[in-house]
Amino acid sequence: MPKICNYYVTSQCNDTCEFCPIWQDEEYKKIEEKPFDLITLKRHGVSILNITGGEPLLRDDLPQILKQAKELGFKTQLTTNGLLYSEKPRWIDGLVDRLFFSLDYPMAEAHDRSRGIECFHDVIKAIQLAKANGEKPVIKFTLTRDSVLFLPEMLDLAEKLNVFVYLNPVYDFYNTQGFEQATISHIKYYGRDKRVLLNLAALEFLKDNGNRTNLPRCRAKQTTITVLPDGKIVSPCFFNQAGVQGREDICSSCMRWPYMLPSFDAKLDKYYLLNKWSEFLNKRKGMKL
Ligand SMILES: C[S@@+](CC[C@H](N)C(=O)[O-])C[C@H]1O[C@@H](n2cnc3c(N)ncnc32)[C@H](O)[C@@H]1O
Repeated sequence: MPKICNYYVTSQCNDTCEFCPIWQDEEYKKIEEKPFDLITLKRHGVSILNITGGEPLLRDDLPQILKQAKELGFKTQLTTNGLLYSEKPRWIDGLVDRLFFSLDYPMAEAHDRSRGIECFHDVIKAIQLAKANGEKPVIKFTLTRDSVLFLPEMLDLAEKLNVFVYLNPVYDFYNTQGFEQATISHIKYYGRDKRVLLNLAALEFLKDNGNRTNLPRCRAKQTTITVLPDGKIVSPCFFNQAGVQGREDICSSCMRWPYMLPSFDAKLDKYYLLNKWSEFLNKRKGMKL
């Protein structure tokens, strides 16, 4: 079972996304950025380094972090809003195996509203530049009850840009109802498209309303390790930094995918099987995630 490190290299962000809890929390923002020696992760059996934040491109020593990751033989993933990508030419090129650019809507006005600043054209430019630089960028499309309606338009845009779209269902419904069955069917329908990467286990888990605190499905502790911007290792996850895995209030209905997707690998059940099936389907389309 591959072990994944979710490395939050910074908690600073140059976006203010409506669905993201990280930039909204003053406590997170206070965490200083300090060097962290990735060799520590080798001892924990990590094979995949997932770089996130905050906005990772705000971290000055990001290229050094990625270079060390490659030297140590980690597979690397990074998600960015793309805002600084064009300003920092070739900063991370060749160092990231799976490069995701977040796009919340396929139209400028709606994406900019969701992100809180004008940035749609910067992301599109960044995706085009990454492609020109020989990268294989993937659009990460966070699906909300509103943005999911624009799946066909997002696919048209992906076709024009000649990239894959990874569907990332929003994982916080703020105690409101999640997706309705018709919405889930709509997502599954578009999930068959050759450009779409979808995890059917995630969709099933969403339908089942996420983690239950009385019978937790979360296996974050066994399958992931979390590193904070200051290099501190916390467990079981970024959002529950010292409590019991899957059993705290914050774990109720949790669907935080950086922890749940690896968790699906750790117990043989329908999520395990759907996860494996999705890996197979995505690979058949030409993308190993
Ligand atoms: C936390 S961001 C950090 C990286 C970077 N700042 C960015 O915007 O891509 C990583 C990804 O998580 C997504 N995200 C943020 N809040 C989310 C939520 N509540 N549910 C699902 N995905 C979320 C973002 O859209 C982005 O694609």
